Amino acid sequence: MATEHGGVDEGVRDGLVAAARDAAGASYSPYSRFRVGAALLCGDGTIVKGTNVENRSYGLTICAERSAVATAVTAGRVAFLAVAIYAPDSDYPLSPCGACRQVISEFMPPDAPVICVDRAGRCATYSLAELLPHDGLYELKDRPLD
Ligand code: THU
Repeated sequence: MATEHGGVDEGVRDGLVAAARDAAGASYSPYSRFRVGAALLCGDGTIVKGTNVENRSYGLTICAERSAVATAVTAGRVAFLAVAIYAPDSDYPLSPCGACRQVISEFMPPDAPVICVDRAGRCATYSLAELLPHDGLYELKDRPLD
C-alpha cells in the first residue's frame, strides 16, 4: 500500500484520486462555483472523503481537505498516509491552502504524498514537507500540554 519513500502504489493512488473525484461531485459551492474533493488514505487502508462546504457568510467556508480530516477523525482515524485533491474547475493541479496544509500535518508525516489533480487529469505530487517547510511546531506534535 505505502511504499518506502512515502509514496503509494499506483492502484491505491488511482483509487484515492477516484474517491476525491467522487467527493467533488458532492461539493456545496454555489458562491465560488469551484468544486473540490479530497480523499485521505488512512493508516488502516480505508479512504475517507471530504468536499468543500460554502456558506453565504463567505468566511465560514470549509475546504474539502479539512472536511475530510474532520470526517476521518470523527470515525476514529487519526493517521493518514496520503491525500488526493481533485479540482474539476481548476486549470492546474490545486494544492491545499495554507490552513489545510497545517491541519493535514497534524495527522500525516512530512514525506507523505499530496496528490493534486486538475480538470484535465493533470497531476502534481508534492510531499507535505514541500508544501509546509520549516514547520516550527513539529516538535509539539502529539505532545499536547498536560
Ligand atoms: N477550496 C478547497 O476546498 N480546497 C483548497 O485547497 C482551496 C480552496 C475551496 C474553498 C472554496 O469553497 C473554493 O474552493 C474557492 O476557494
